[in-house]
Amino acid sequence: MSQVRIQNLNISFGAHTVIPKLDLEVQAGEFLVLLGPSGCGKSTLLHSIAGLIAITGGSIHIDGQDMSHAQPSERGLGMVFQSYALYPHMSVRDNLAFPLRMAGQSKAEMDSRIAKAAAMLQLEPLLDRRPAQLSGGQRQRVAIGRAVVREADLLLLDEPLSNLDAKLRTELRRELKQLHARLGNTMIYVTHDQVEAMTLATRIVVMHQGEILQIGSPAEVYERPRSLRVASFVGSPTINQFQGDLHQGQFNAGPLQLGGPKGVTESGQISLAVRPEDVLIGADQPFSAKVDLVEPLGNQHLLWMSAGEISLCAVLPGQATLAAGDAVRFGFDPQRLHWFDSQGQRIGN
Ligand SMILES: Nc1ncnc2c1ncn2[C@@H]1O[C@H](COP(=O)(O)OP(=O)(O)OP(=O)(O)O)[C@@H](O)[C@H]1O
Ligand SMILES: [Mg+2]
Repeated sequence: MSQVRIQNLNISFGAHTVIPKLDLEVQAGEFLVLLGPSGCGKSTLLHSIAGLIAITGGSIHIDGQDMSHAQPSERGLGMVFQSYALYPHMSVRDNLAFPLRMAGQSKAEMDSRIAKAAAMLQLEPLLDRRPAQLSGGQRQRVAIGRAVVREADLLLLDEPLSNLDAKLRTELRRELKQLHARLGNTMIYVTHDQVEAMTLATRIVVMHQGEILQIGSPAEVYERPRSLRVASFVGSPTINQFQGDLHQGQFNAGPLQLGGPKGVTESGQISLAVRPEDVLIGADQPFSAKVDLVEPLGNQHLLWMSAGEISLCAVLPGQATLAAGDAVRFGFDPQRLHWFDSQGQRIGN
């Protein structure tokens, strides 16, 4: 049975429609990640599942029960907000204990769950402080802890790691994944972070202006984006895009000339997209370019290049041997070309 079933969902604030019509099924035990640009409606969707905003159309079922208009407390889920609200007059320990006390847990069970959450979130030294005595990142960890201690079947998380430094963020990312494996609960998770989405999700939902553009495993969304918009939203650095003409099976975009998408016979404007890691550099490659900028990343480096009116980025292993101003030859991995029609929809293969 699906844990959450959303049908025909509409959310409007007065005349302003944020979600026109959305359908989504979340299976029990999934780690579903909502990904999309700022303002596309991710938080709105999450808040509607939690019952924090009224829906203006459609239905939301949780565990087979119609919860479309139920109170938040009736929905039996945990939530970590984008703007984490803690009880200011309570210590960290009491903030963590609060949902357990409400649920009538025994003292021993409360202590054990708080100890586990505090260890995972590195909150042990902070348990007796109040929220005002914590940094932003520490408060965010308490907010995660408060949702996690309940061990709810359904946990909604809205950018829960956004205020943490890079190191803690990657640590907590692993902890969340392990927590999910241990609890086997359902997580719906909003993030802007590509790596978080790819590493945590069992499925990614790519949203744009209140609509779902694609749902799939991280590999599907990355390897077979259904549209140019999805292709350019998922992956960092952004996928390279070349607009050009398809004529008699041959694709032309300025200095680029190569065989077009298989099975497409009609001529016209199409786009080629190539991920930076699929750009090949070497003396035997077909096209020439000039290096504009090199960005070292430690274990790899980015090469920003231009050739006539096109520009592109390649990601290469190790340290850079090229520098700005150098001439290079480049090509593409022929197995990894993405083609899109003039409407931006995937074509070929
Ligand atoms: N109470 C409200 N009244 C009117 N408009 C709202 C309200 N809440 C949200 N919106 C609008 O709905 C749209 C979606 O907002 P939402 O917070 O869901 O975006 P988001 O995808 O979470 O963005 P971000 O990544 O920046 O957090 C925005 O255009 C926002 O201005
Ligand atoms: Mg948001």
